[in-house]
Amino acid sequence: MTRPKAHGVRAMKGEKAAAARSLLIEHATELLTLRGPPEPRVRETAADLGIVEDGEVYVEGDRIVDVGMASEVLSRHPRADVRIDATGCVVMPGFVDAHTHAIFAGSREHEVEWKAQGLGYAEIAARGGGILYTVRATRDASEDELVRTGSERMRSMLSSGTTTLEVKTGYGLRTDAEVKMLHATTRAASIAGVDVVPTFLGAHAIPPEYEGRSDAYVDLVSGEMLDAVSATGLAVFCDVFVDEGYFTPEQARRVLGKAKVVGLHPKVHADELAETGGAALAAEIGAVSADHLVHASPAGVDAMARAGVLGVLLPATSLASRLPFVDGRRLMAAGVPVALGTDFNPNCWCESLQLAAALACHHNGLVPAEAIVASTINAAHAVGRASEIGSLEPGKRADLLVLDIPSHRHLGYRIGGNAVRTVVKSGRVRIERASR
Ligand code: NIG
Ligand code: FE
Repeated sequence: MTRPKAHGVRAMKGEKAAAARSLLIEHATELLTLRGPPEPRVRETAADLGIVEDGEVYVEGDRIVDVGMASEVLSRHPRADVRIDATGCVVMPGFVDAHTHAIFAGSREHEVEWKAQGLGYAEIAARGGGILYTVRATRDASEDELVRTGSERMRSMLSSGTTTLEVKTGYGLRTDAEVKMLHATTRAASIAGVDVVPTFLGAHAIPPEYEGRSDAYVDLVSGEMLDAVSATGLAVFCDVFVDEGYFTPEQARRVLGKAKVVGLHPKVHADELAETGGAALAAEIGAVSADHLVHASPAGVDAMARAGVLGVLLPATSLASRLPFVDGRRLMAAGVPVALGTDFNPNCWCESLQLAAALACHHNGLVPAEAIVASTINAAHAVGRASEIGSLEPGKRADLLVLDIPSHRHLGYRIGGNAVRTVVKSGRVRIERASR
């Protein structure tokens, strides 16, 4: 492993290099290392947290150097610039939110009343709500405005323990506005101090100027728009909303085929509102993940397992849109590695992966250990960052949490609280909350 430079510490001529700033997290009651094989965790590894009791983590600069039992780590690294006592606490990797739409303008709180009256997602869209409502606001907003509101949300996510998140575009639906969203995403993340993985979702809905001409819009997305997105060098993934009233598998093939040519990895919003072949398409094109999966067919799920496509569960969306909760046990039994996301978007204002994990345990059939794997190392796989984050192993980035709970099981148990006491991002203490 090459040791990275400490923050801004450089040797002057004739001077000995200063040691990297060091940090020791001591005496964690449960240290969840998540160490394990390099592949997404599935079947026998799907609940393996690599727990060390009375555990210790030693960090230099932004990297983890040593992890293990307190007695052993302390004998190798007795000194540190900063020490954090984690007695009585759980220490684990920072949460990785595998699916968000966290950059948008405006809000849709008025839709809650429509939901209370029993209106569904399609009926709300037909009333002028839904994605296109937010598209209007986002097109009108300046990039600076998106940066300001987006960085506030990301900061709030960080204080709930999310150190890396995926963010999709898809509220511009016009080349200039999609590119504006990508720039706003990276600027907001840098202000908030989180890492972001941007995804281009130009095929999120058919914009009003293309109503009734969805194929022409797909031409725009897979032509000029993807070229402009690729020229920014900012997007990592390309996603398509394959669902009833949105895009067909055939249209998604065109967009995602072109995306591959320009170097973007495919993802699919699959079978959220109805079964329209999203899961099978994700398997066919070798997508990194298929997300939502509320109505995925058994054949689609089996195809995902064979192709090694991760399934991203978004239980907060089922809550916000009164959709069924995915049977996570069925996915896992079929051999699909499962990851979790908040799906933070104007329809589902959820900043907390802790809440998503608790919902996954109460409604998707996951046990707490599986929900933790799904929101750390498997989520890191879903965003293409597993070699860098998602577990506490020497050489990985020092993104970690001290949680004020006596055992990891409380993460799947407590609904809607925030157990975070300390957030360490890239080796620096970024959030410290008073312990209760
Ligand atoms: O993931 N399903 C499509 N997109 C979002 C919702 C976006 C919105 O309603 O603004 C989702 O749930
Ligand atoms: Fe989504």
